[in-house]
Amino acid sequence: MDVAERIAALRARIEELNRAYYVRSELLASDAEYDALFRELVALEDAHPELDSPTSPTKKVGAPPLEAFRSVTHGAPMLSLANAFDEADIRDFDLRVRRFLGDEDARVRYTIEPKIDGVGLSLTYEDGVLVLAATRGDSETGEDVTANARTIRSVPLALGGEEPPPARVEIRGEVFAEKARFAAFNEGIAEAADRYANPRNFASGSLRQLDSGITAQRPLDAIFYALGLAEGVDVGSQADLVARFESWGLRTAGPHFRVCETIDEVVKEHARLEAARDELPFEIDGTVIKVDDFELRRVLGFRTRNPRWAVAVKFKAREASTRLLDVEISVGRTGALTPVAKLEPVGIGGVTVSSASLHNYDEIARLDVRIGDRVLVERAGDVIPKVTQVLLGERDGAETPIVAPTACPVCGTPAQRDEEEVVLRCPNVVCPARVKGAIKHFASKGALDVEGLGDKLVDQLVDRELVRSPADLFRLGKDDLVPLERMGERSAEKLVAALEKARHTTLPRLLFGLGIRHVGERVAEIVAGRIEKPLDLLELTAEDLEAVHEIGEKAAAAIVAWGAEPDNAALLRDLDAAGLEARPEVRAGAGPLDGATFVITGTLPNLSRKDAQNLIKKHGGKPVGAISRATDYLVAGEKPGSKLKKAEDYGIKVLDEAALLELLGEPDPPSPS
Ligand code: IVH
Repeated sequence: MDVAERIAALRARIEELNRAYYVRSELLASDAEYDALFRELVALEDAHPELDSPTSPTKKVGAPPLEAFRSVTHGAPMLSLANAFDEADIRDFDLRVRRFLGDEDARVRYTIEPKIDGVGLSLTYEDGVLVLAATRGDSETGEDVTANARTIRSVPLALGGEEPPPARVEIRGEVFAEKARFAAFNEGIAEAADRYANPRNFASGSLRQLDSGITAQRPLDAIFYALGLAEGVDVGSQADLVARFESWGLRTAGPHFRVCETIDEVVKEHARLEAARDELPFEIDGTVIKVDDFELRRVLGFRTRNPRWAVAVKFKAREASTRLLDVEISVGRTGALTPVAKLEPVGIGGVTVSSASLHNYDEIARLDVRIGDRVLVERAGDVIPKVTQVLLGERDGAETPIVAPTACPVCGTPAQRDEEEVVLRCPNVVCPARVKGAIKHFASKGALDVEGLGDKLVDQLVDRELVRSPADLFRLGKDDLVPLERMGERSAEKLVAALEKARHTTLPRLLFGLGIRHVGERVAEIVAGRIEKPLDLLELTAEDLEAVHEIGEKAAAAIVAWGAEPDNAALLRDLDAAGLEARPEVRAGAGPLDGATFVITGTLPNLSRKDAQNLIKKHGGKPVGAISRATDYLVAGEKPGSKLKKAEDYGIKVLDEAALLELLGEPDPPSPS
């Protein structure tokens, strides 16, 4: 196979998958398949520097750290929008537009789209190539965050599409993190104090990292909605613009972008988006209504800072005031003692809230919050509600200060405060609260994903001393479970079956499930790629780990420190003794076939087509549908058809089932399925 062709094909395929995923929200390949293609491309580019290209999708990784961001002047200012808050404001906006156009009876077409709660970004493409990415800054001048933006999967390094790209164009959009991906990342940050309050802070903090290697590890996304300076872009409306963006490979609001023929429709769409708010994968804080037609926009022009042709309609605040009744302390799996506010129940955006996070005792001091205070509580989407402010004017002097605990409220061990850390900690590794936290994490979705093992059940198992460590889970039998509260024969059987299933897991899941500080799902996956079995974790050195681009110093140190703890080494051995199997995730490039492509034709004597494809994949090969000169092998069974002839014409190696199995090193053909 010609390397240049293979590289080009890989780049095209990865761009296609990116576009499908980010622009059309279609998943054309699993994450593992995507990773396999990506790794193969990285390996080929490493081996063939002469074929390198600045627009390769692999260039979406970090560049060397910066000292500071350079400031850059936008080609056209990044404006802000006037705000509206309710239906009356929306109708006022429409009236103002028609009056300004000098025809109150005019029918103006509007568009409506989500107002994404992220950070503004301006991308400049010259002849279709990304040359600059800048933050909004003061609207005239922003910061050059090109190296960081290049790491975002939904920021194309080159514009796609059939037509020749414009000479120069500024594209405006919003960088954000999807709620679920943000939550998964944030939960992987072991220190409560290091976690981000919400996806917007996370997006903003991640986009403004001086080391783009850090940004590259963050699950950022971007959606684009406007033009800045544009030369040679002939679009006449917002609807055209959205279609053009999509043809260039830019993610847009997609199905959430609507064209409305009347203002009544706009009002309805706004209500629909507000109702759908929690179901959207990303945070939105309102909608943006725009005059569709660009010629009308030109006539309408701008007031001082805002365009007359658009308005942001803010959703109702998800904030309320209530009284702080008490502060309880929750003990996490790392032993962190987190103060939790107990509140007089209050409805916020349709949900009754009775407790909220106070983060840590430094935060309590910063807010100067006391028991009995009236406080503001904010609930943002899926995020845990939090106390944001004290209403100092409401104090009557009866409020009592909150005192930090000196001991763990669960096991009584004196609390410790690590140097330079704001977190109080219970140092007792067998503290029942820590054990419960560790087991809940071990069984959670991103880890071993034990179905039916809920929090209440874990509490019971630990309280009754049936389980002292994650390994004990695999020793539970039906008879242990049946006597538990809210357990019947059937649910006990189901749980035993779920544990049996979870016993056969993957290395990345296990590593994540161990709850090592600074090891989230992504780092776990990378570390898993460097080892073969769980116990190998104990052999890794800080140098080994730091040499890996995506693993930071903190994570490397935490992994080594974890392994040095005898209890943890014992846990790995105990898991092994309990029959846990953690297989490395199979990826192309990992097997002996290094991404070689296979086409299967005809009926094989023993293997079904699916089985054959799975076997090929297991060994790092890649089953493909159509034969081409780039195909490495044709596997031919009975009645092979025209593919066999083609393969012979192209000089492609032809294998029968036995030869395939031999090549794969799988001597026994499985019985027919
Ligand atoms: S249009 C001149 N559309 O909200 C028009 N802005 O105050 C430029 N935003 O700075 C903005 N979602 O960062 C537009 N669908 C959307 C948006 C959006 C979020 C942000 C943007 C802008 C601010 C407006």
